[in-house]
Amino acid sequence: MGAGKDVAAGDSAGVHRVLFVCLGNICRSPMAEAVFAHITKERGLSSQFKIDSAGTAGYHVGDSPDTRSMATCRKNGVDVSHVGRQVSKSDFTDFDWVLCMDESNLRDLQRIQPKGSKAKVQLFGDFDPEGDRIIRDPYYGGPEGFDRNFAQVTRCSEQFLKELGL
Ligand code: 4NP
Repeated sequence: MGAGKDVAAGDSAGVHRVLFVCLGNICRSPMAEAVFAHITKERGLSSQFKIDSAGTAGYHVGDSPDTRSMATCRKNGVDVSHVGRQVSKSDFTDFDWVLCMDESNLRDLQRIQPKGSKAKVQLFGDFDPEGDRIIRDPYYGGPEGFDRNFAQVTRCSEQFLKELGL
C-alpha cells in the first residue's frame, strides 16, 4: 500500500508539495484538497505543506467546486475554496506528489508528465487503508457518491500523513 519506503522528502524548504487531480477539478480533487488542508491545519502542519488541485480536462477552468462537493465538505465542517484549473507540465516540477482519483486520470497524467520530472504520480487511493484504490467519479450520481468520496479522501489523507511520518 501507499508510498512504502520510497517517500519523497519534500522540496528544499522541507515543504511537501501535493497536487490532487481528477477529471473536472470541481468534485473530487477540490474535496481532497480541502479535506487534506483541513486535517493538516487541525494537526498544526500547514506550514509543512503546499496543497492545490487541478483537472486533467479543461471544461471547468475558472469554475467554483460543484455545489454538491461543497455541501458535503461544509456539512462535515470543512471549508472549500478553489478555482478550477487544468493540470500543466510545470505541475510535475512544482509538486512532489501528484495524487489522482482514478485510472483514467493516472493514464492521462502519465502521458503528459515531462521526462525527467520528479513528481510522484499515483492514485490517492493507494493510501486507502480499506484497499479501495479508486475514488469514483460522483458527477452523474446522487449525493451518496459525494459522501463516499468524503469518507475515502479522509481515510487516504490520514494514511498519507502517516506514511510521510507525520
Ligand atoms: P471530477 O468530476 O472529475 O471529480 O471533478 C467531474 C466533473 C465534471 C465532469 C465530469 C466529472 N464533466 O463531465 O463535466
